[in-house]
Amino acid sequence: MVRELIGEREGENYELHRKYLNPYFVRVLSIIGYDVVYVRGEGPWLYDREGNRYLDFLSGYSVFNLGRNHPVVKAALMEVLELDRPNLVQMDCPLLAGILAEKLVEVTQQAYPGLDAVFFTNSGTEAVEGALKFARAATGKSRFLHLEHSFHGLTLGSLSVNGDAYFRDGFGELLPATAIPMNDLSALERELRKGDVACFITEPIQGKGVYVPDDEFLPEAQKLCRKHGALFILDEVQTGFGRTGRFFCGEHWGLEPDIVTVAKTLSGGYVPVGAIITRREIHRKVFRNLERAVVHSNTFGMNELAMAAGLAALKVIEEERLVERAAEMGARFMEGLKWLQEKYEMVADVRGKGLMLGIEFGPPSSLKLKAGWRSVETVKKGLFAQLIVMGLMKEHRLLTQVSAHGVNIIKFLPPLVVGEEEIDYALEALDHVLSEAHRFPGGIWGLAKDLVRGALGARAYPAPE
Ligand SMILES: Cc1ncc(COP(=O)(O)O)c(C=O)c1O
Repeated sequence: MVRELIGEREGENYELHRKYLNPYFVRVLSIIGYDVVYVRGEGPWLYDREGNRYLDFLSGYSVFNLGRNHPVVKAALMEVLELDRPNLVQMDCPLLAGILAEKLVEVTQQAYPGLDAVFFTNSGTEAVEGALKFARAATGKSRFLHLEHSFHGLTLGSLSVNGDAYFRDGFGELLPATAIPMNDLSALERELRKGDVACFITEPIQGKGVYVPDDEFLPEAQKLCRKHGALFILDEVQTGFGRTGRFFCGEHWGLEPDIVTVAKTLSGGYVPVGAIITRREIHRKVFRNLERAVVHSNTFGMNELAMAAGLAALKVIEEERLVERAAEMGARFMEGLKWLQEKYEMVADVRGKGLMLGIEFGPPSSLKLKAGWRSVETVKKGLFAQLIVMGLMKEHRLLTQVSAHGVNIIKFLPPLVVGEEEIDYALEALDHVLSEAHRFPGGIWGLAKDLVRGALGARAYPAPE
């Protein structure tokens, strides 16, 4: 049935979405040249109807750390289907959820020794929502602290700890929460001292903008939370499972969070799943007696396809040594980015860890280039980076993304299965597009016309992650 439907209707993708889903997003994709009909995915590659291949340095926002359609995950899911399992009985304790929780605790404890209790969710934002509730239950306090530029999902609780007005505006009153500038320990302590803070939640490296904290910030922030009786929550939904060259990103600083949230890659790229991993004593504050045994729950959290996908994903990460690979390939990519920074005046910064890397652009000093920069940046801040993203796609079929709203930062999240060949391909593509961008007019600047026209008519370019 699915095969037939795809066979009959392939190519109607954008029209169907325009009619029944989100027409503005369809328009954005068309303006930036991302309106491709993909028909197949394998590892780090996507294929269109004509058989062209595209190198995916977006990874579905870090869902595809294992690459697309990994045979081990696929086989595990097919086994579950063949077994006719008694899925979602609800009034029982399903085996695969128990085994995945056991495995998650085992791998988590190698990074964060105290964490030994798990709650399964259906997404990253649901894991964050749950973690915020756990923090309130554990501390009896109600306010949340988060960082400026933070991103933890877009449901109302997670939105309350979002650091970007773009996402918050227009949705009314949110939960009590305060944004702290990254690296500002005094601001953090000032808020903690007020005594009403349930937790400080943070991504160890921020997805929006690839902002990496100073080395002392997170360890000191953790200490301050302990001192003032607030929980320290690491949101590793994007950074977890090897993305930054360590299994968990907090390992870079020897952190010991009270709660860690995960999702994305745990799905194996197939079945949505997330988890809250915490200490038993915190878990016990939520589920504290028989009466409150189901006080926080969901319908699909422990679904067997998701559990099998999670088990298979963890097996692949271990067997293919993807964490070590991310560190090695990340070092190669970073070396190349640094070389580009030296070569091109508009590359202002390169940063990140493992295979979560960013490149930031800044205004040029030479007169000719200034005219080009102004031609897009006075229309809307961040359009220069969008121009580079468009060039990478149009001329090299390399998928990337502008990392946040109104910034000139491109983020790279390649699947962790990439090898030297793919890293070098991406670096050569960047080198070429940047060389064109440093020659004004002509070359890549030809794309600016569509972009500017689009920007004047539409607002949002980067899609929410
Ligand atoms: C750090 C972080 N937390 C939470 C989320 C939300 O996850 P989901 O989109 O699965 O709800 C994201 C998504 O990008 C994320 O990057």
